[in-house]
Amino acid sequence: MGSNKGVRNLFIFGSLFFFVILIVLTFDTLSKLPGRAPEITEDVNAGKMAWHKYDCIGCHTIFGNGSYFAPDLTKTTDKKPEAYLKRFLIDPKSVNPKASMPKLGIMPEEADQIIVFLKWIAKVDTNDWPPKPILAGAAGVGGRELTAGERLYQSSGCSECHMINGIGGTTAPDLTHIGNTRDKAWLFGHFKNPPAYTPDSAMPAVEASDGEIEQLTEYMLTLK
Ligand code: HEC
Ligand code: HEC
Repeated sequence: MGSNKGVRNLFIFGSLFFFVILIVLTFDTLSKLPGRAPEITEDVNAGKMAWHKYDCIGCHTIFGNGSYFAPDLTKTTDKKPEAYLKRFLIDPKSVNPKASMPKLGIMPEEADQIIVFLKWIAKVDTNDWPPKPILAGAAGVGGRELTAGERLYQSSGCSECHMINGIGGTTAPDLTHIGNTRDKAWLFGHFKNPPAYTPDSAMPAVEASDGEIEQLTEYMLTLK
């Protein structure tokens, strides 16, 4: 009988012990939750309605949920200027003639609401998910020191839109062989003022000193 009592005590106190841990962890989680999602406004809601109306999730993911045909949009508004996104939503091919996202008939007002919705999504604390792409391979061969131009390319977020050697975004022209098609003067001038070289360009001007833009240009010229 004595050993039965021991088993019973172990069961009772063991259960109690883990129950207390459960309660403590529950409170810990609850105390952290309010900070993780920002407030939902009317525009956020309207954007979400438009998101469903055009079945964005049929191609895209948010928080990793959805279809894997198109890029995840969880942090898109952190990386791309609003004006660029608005243009892309209304008419993807006006940004990039090769865009495969269809023109869905999104009205300018709806585009604004969708962007507000995506900004809300971007503010949700996801513990740094999705991970940033690994860029080392895009600029240079592993092991060697990056040139100033390569470093600028990586720190300026060019790869959010452009691809080099298969790494980067798909909404702007592939730059893998850009050194074959554009010369120094064109590249330098385009960086400072894209629409002066590509009418209606959706690329934001590069904000850097002339010296840095020259380094970026030198890097582009090596891509052949
Ligand atoms: C038929 C598939 C499809 C649908 C539907 C679709 N997209 Fe896209 N979207 C794409 C593809 C593919 C891309 C990648 C760029 C390209 O090639 O056009 C893209 C790119 C984007 C981008 C640019 C992402 C970036 O990183 O620059 C945004 C923003 C975007 N889509 C938002 C939306 C929203 C919002 C909706 C719904 C209103 C939507 N998409 C519906 C296929 C789709
Ligand atoms: C928000 C998206 C975006 C970002 C960020 C961006 N670009 Fe662009 N870029 C574009 C688009 C769209 C075009 C096509 C229109 C044009 O030629 O201006 C383009 C065009 C170019 C071209 C000309 C391509 C060709 O074949 O004619 C070069 C070179 C270029 N970008 C380099 C860069 C570099 C370097 C950076 C980083 C400093 C950068 N871009 C940042 C969107 C972007």
